[in-house]
Amino acid sequence: MIPIRRNVLSMQPYSPGKPIDEVKRELGLDRVVKLASNENPFGPSPKAVAAVKLAAEKMHIYPDGAAYDLKQALSAHLGIPASSLMVGNGSDELIHMIGLILLGSEEDEMIMGDPSFSRYDPAAQIGPSKLIKVPLDSNYRHDLPAMAKAATERTKLLWIANPNNPTGTIVRKSEVDQLLKDLPEQVVVVLDEAYYEFAEGQEDFPDAREYMLAGAPVIGLRTFSKAYGLAGIRLGYGFGPEAIIDAINRVREPFNVNGLAQLAGIAALSDDEHVKKTVENNRRGLEFLAGVFEKVGAKPCESFANFIYADLGRPARPVFQALLERGVITRPGDVLGNPTCLRVSVGTEEEMELFAAALEEVMAPVATR
Ligand SMILES: Cc1ncc(COP(=O)(O)O)c(C=O)c1O
Repeated sequence: MIPIRRNVLSMQPYSPGKPIDEVKRELGLDRVVKLASNENPFGPSPKAVAAVKLAAEKMHIYPDGAAYDLKQALSAHLGIPASSLMVGNGSDELIHMIGLILLGSEEDEMIMGDPSFSRYDPAAQIGPSKLIKVPLDSNYRHDLPAMAKAATERTKLLWIANPNNPTGTIVRKSEVDQLLKDLPEQVVVVLDEAYYEFAEGQEDFPDAREYMLAGAPVIGLRTFSKAYGLAGIRLGYGFGPEAIIDAINRVREPFNVNGLAQLAGIAALSDDEHVKKTVENNRRGLEFLAGVFEKVGAKPCESFANFIYADLGRPARPVFQALLERGVITRPGDVLGNPTCLRVSVGTEEEMELFAAALEEVMAPVATR
């Protein structure tokens, strides 16, 4: 018997969006579009591509483990000290490490929304620590008063994805201010702002930087995977109190962000045009997708991210499967938390038209088909 820890065996492996090639192979399709993983439909910044091509010549050299240049670039971009920054192999890695440094016993408690980003669960399970899931409110938003009520002296960590994945909904600054007042003082709050660039500028939209700079026990997390289009090279970052950064530096692998990712990130940060184009396209895409869902009688959530979550009013798995057979990969709600919901990412106009036509066909009443 191999003595794997009991709590590890109770953890579920991540279930990713289906890859395009797999769907083509399995269903014998030539054309497949993936609107399942909230990637950037315009691809990476051309500046990042050029930087990676150049850097490829140097891949025999270990990267800078402290990611000095990347942190300097992020510090200038964000207006926060480089010493408050941490970088990771995607923000997924930072989520994992935040769990490691804060949760270590069965008495420790972690609170998250339900449904929210699925990578928070293992941060508690690996402890193993107690995982408390607080249902979203009736508008699919984080119920911050209920989350505050769920906290005790044993609560160490509380997650808010803002905008939330899978729903795309946001909480407002006034609500986060109140939450921070209501929570016991030892609770560290993570504002996961993976979709920040899409929601930035919304009225009363909170910014984790402000809380961190004011000395609150708040960590902000962001990523290059979404608006910057670098999901494949894996690069995320976070900022927080000195004690958190110090602890992360103690547990992280020495070269946790590879050299190509570091240079891609610096180049992408300098490409405002690419982000602007992405965000503008996204605004139009959200409107379009909301209209598509409404047309077939589904109820889309108000989204501030680069995807839409909609309640189809019937089991979403068969709809997901029928869309797949028409060459469109989406994400069914049974793996995300609501079996009647479907999540679709904003794509190019052509990709979204393909989705719209397929959804109309799939959702049409049987008699009119
Ligand atoms: C809310 C949220 N946080 C974090 C991540 C992880 O992003 P990455 O590891 O690609 O930086 C995602 C990815 O989908 C996400 O939706």
